[in-house]
Amino acid sequence: MKYAIIGSGKIGTALARIFAGKKIEVAIANFRGPATLASLTKELGSSVVPQSLQDAYNAEIIFLAVPFSAHKNVAKEFKQWNGKIVVDVTNALHVAPEELGDLLSSEVVSQAFAGARLVKAFNHLPAAQLGTNPSLGLRQVVFVSSNDVDASATIATVASELGFAPVELGRLDQGGVPLHVVGGRPGGLLFQNLEKLG
Ligand SMILES: NC(=O)c1ccc[n+]([C@@H]2O[C@H](COP(=O)([O-])OP(=O)(O)OC[C@H]3O[C@@H](n4cnc5c(N)ncnc54)[C@H](OP(=O)(O)O)[C@@H]3O)[C@@H](O)[C@H]2O)c1
Repeated sequence: MKYAIIGSGKIGTALARIFAGKKIEVAIANFRGPATLASLTKELGSSVVPQSLQDAYNAEIIFLAVPFSAHKNVAKEFKQWNGKIVVDVTNALHVAPEELGDLLSSEVVSQAFAGARLVKAFNHLPAAQLGTNPSLGLRQVVFVSSNDVDASATIATVASELGFAPVELGRLDQGGVPLHVVGGRPGGLLFQNLEKLG
């Protein structure tokens, strides 16, 4: 399975650091191009591979770590995302609720990525907390929500491989709602740094 992180800002870098910690190969790409990622990849080692956006889009699992306002810019690259999994790490924190209409932000992102399977995950913690070591014997919880049961299970497995305790919440508009900013307010699971035994 090929992974790519689109966006090398705070949360994209945190994700890259987590992949590097497990020595799982991941591509990373940003708007400005791979040359701007040299110092990051030097720091994190050979499992984090700087790529052009074009190359990074070849991955089967894409972590979307760009501002919510930039998602359409990424999505327009393909008319059809052909079953790829897009992990929506964005939070619509500074987005006017009217901009989302009656939809959750992940539903808006999902509409833009036609043909992709969207999973909401890895978005609930500040970058500085994500992947930080919990107490001995515990794993940090990562919430996973999707309308696609298989895609949810796949990302739950990836989360486990990365050292987290995944908690699957089910559909975006059901268990996944507290993982979103709704009506301008963070849902109940955002910023909850939980740990799980095992
Ligand atoms: N920061 C957090 O603690 C945190 C936690 C959870 C979720 N989130 C969510 O994650 C998203 C990213 O947040 P952030 O704080 O990491 O932002 P950030 O530090 O501002 O980084 C944004 C990244 O997105 C890239 N980008 C912007 N437009 C792009 C485009 N059209 N194509 C490709 N790459 C593009 C930028 O590329 P360049 O570097 O080339 O400019 C940059 O690397 C936001 O939606 C935020 O709500 C953030």
